[in-house]
Amino acid sequence: MSGAALVLKQLVYRSKATAKFSEDDLLKITSDSIPFNRENNITGILLFDGEYFFQVLEGKSDVVHALYEHIKGDSRHTNIVKVTELVVHKRDFGEWLLRALTVNEGSRCYWLPPDLTLNREGRMFALLNSFASGRWRNCLSDSERKSISAKITTAATSIAQFENSHIQFAFQPIIDTFKGKITSLEALIRSDDGEFPEAILDCLDGEEKYKFDLESKAIAIAQGAKLLNPSQSLSINLCPGAMTYLPDVGEYLCKLLGESGLKPEQLVLEVTETEIIKENDAFFEAVERVRSRGIKIAIDDFGAGYAGLSLLADFSPDKIKLDRKITTGIHENGHRQAITEAVLEFANAMGIPLVVEGVETIEEWLWLQHIGVQRFQGFLFAKPCLNGIAEVKFKVDGGETL
Ligand SMILES: Cc1cc2nc3c(=O)[nH]c(=O)nc-3n(C[C@H](O)[C@H](O)[C@H](O)COP(=O)(O)O)c2cc1C
Repeated sequence: MSGAALVLKQLVYRSKATAKFSEDDLLKITSDSIPFNRENNITGILLFDGEYFFQVLEGKSDVVHALYEHIKGDSRHTNIVKVTELVVHKRDFGEWLLRALTVNEGSRCYWLPPDLTLNREGRMFALLNSFASGRWRNCLSDSERKSISAKITTAATSIAQFENSHIQFAFQPIIDTFKGKITSLEALIRSDDGEFPEAILDCLDGEEKYKFDLESKAIAIAQGAKLLNPSQSLSINLCPGAMTYLPDVGEYLCKLLGESGLKPEQLVLEVTETEIIKENDAFFEAVERVRSRGIKIAIDDFGAGYAGLSLLADFSPDKIKLDRKITTGIHENGHRQAITEAVLEFANAMGIPLVVEGVETIEEWLWLQHIGVQRFQGFLFAKPCLNGIAEVKFKVDGGETL
């Protein structure tokens, strides 16, 4: 057995009862659970507020994980979100094989029984309090789910390949599911064979790379302009070095935009979070100059790098694109939910549109739209399409895809 399997863990999840639950039903869960928990050295607590469960399972890592997977399949509850998982050096619930407690919303932790000697300054106390004081009830009720409908259907569009070029672009739509429309297209670079042009990019360095990056934008803009309508914008990825490679990159981009018939306001330059933080004053000055022409700047892959909040504190982007690493499986993951809610709150407070990337399942979308996310990019809606836009056929009624 590996060492990790022997580590003492606390796994915390919240779920929602599928039917009305009486005190007796709750006691039945505990009495049924106790023999297994005793045999496997599992201890813990089960809070119930009349609708939601919040359970802490403590024990050896592998046993806790196996039990959690087993409990997830229990039809008495649904909407299971793993709130967190902690490695600890000692148990908080000691002798309690499983103690069930009923809490009332807003009651906070005053109900904790006196025989539980939980450190009131510690993390577990704070977690229980967070549930008792109303957090973790962030899932859709059945009636809310039934009221959800969204529809966006657009036909596939294709354009001719750009002549005499060994690079091409694939376009992926960014969709506002509240408004039911495509708000922008992201241009993604591809080689002749339609694949990511790794071979081309790998042999370029420094200035050569910036030159190539800027030259490729001529194709992205020319092709994008053929696909865009006047209310949509075009997102292109730009490496930060390219921003300062020319004395006035804005002038260069505006010339390309003018030739293609697009307005500067329709162009969004996406710069990844990891790349922005390595930059210096010259980069930020170039950003200002570009913006003064009307061109917008987005932070791409936000959350994937390590800049995070300090970047948001100092640099006010026109758009934030939350990385797929944060949103994949969000409907089941407490950490991802809490982070996304915080980023959305920041974006709303600052008036910055938030786009969530990498949305692939209806459950992810339902959760995200429930907390108020409006714009999405991902395979659930459309995959990138070479020299065109894939058909979008997104129809949800009563919370189910049609
Ligand atoms: C909210 C909730 C918490 C549960 N906690 C435990 C537990 O701590 N230990 C346990 O053995 N079973 C627990 N169960 C019950 C298991 O899901 C399952 O019913 C039980 O292990 C019997 O499984 P079996 O029918 O496959 O034999 C819990 C069920 C629910 C709904």
